[in-house]
Amino acid sequence: MKFEFTELAYNYDALEPHIDARTMEIHHGKHHAGYTNKLNSAIEGTSFEGLSIEEILKNAKDIPAIRNNAGGYYNHNLFWEIMTPSGNKNVSTKLKKAIDNTFGSFEVFKAEFIAAAATQFGSGWAWLYVHNGELYVGATPNQDNPIMGIELEGEPILGIDIWEHAYYLKYQNLRPDYINAFFEVIDWNKVSEKYEKLV
Ligand SMILES: [Fe+2]
Repeated sequence: MKFEFTELAYNYDALEPHIDARTMEIHHGKHHAGYTNKLNSAIEGTSFEGLSIEEILKNAKDIPAIRNNAGGYYNHNLFWEIMTPSGNKNVSTKLKKAIDNTFGSFEVFKAEFIAAAATQFGSGWAWLYVHNGELYVGATPNQDNPIMGIELEGEPILGIDIWEHAYYLKYQNLRPDYINAFFEVIDWNKVSEKYEKLV
């Protein structure tokens, strides 16, 4: 069975002006399609065929073609899922309480998340993730993620793509502007749902 190319729940121009249509078109139509196809080719005929994406992420650390493309596939699916046109600011009571208890306030969490994304050297992702029921912020290089248990360990509930392909057309070298714009399109309803499934 092959992993399916995920259609977006919104149009390419739906996240404007925060994330531009041309970037979304290339990012989803070319990059995400590439990760999907390369993942399917890389696992074909191997013992990974038929495993869930999470099982592949946990067990393919030493096989770059699978690690990178499985990461690319999973990370982008999460990224598309946790964004929505105009954003949705409805952080659930439970997640809000956990953010306040862990970071002190939503604003402190936001500052930590932005710092993690802004200071990740080169390509990668920044995450809000859950490990043993607790919230953490961190970043990973390339297409790695916390599920792999390499640099970080846990289940991501929010992630931002900080590869240049995610922002360079509109923001050029201004990665912090892109990260701030991302906060305008986060679907906190979806992030809360993911959190509540894990705790
Ligand atoms: Fe990307």
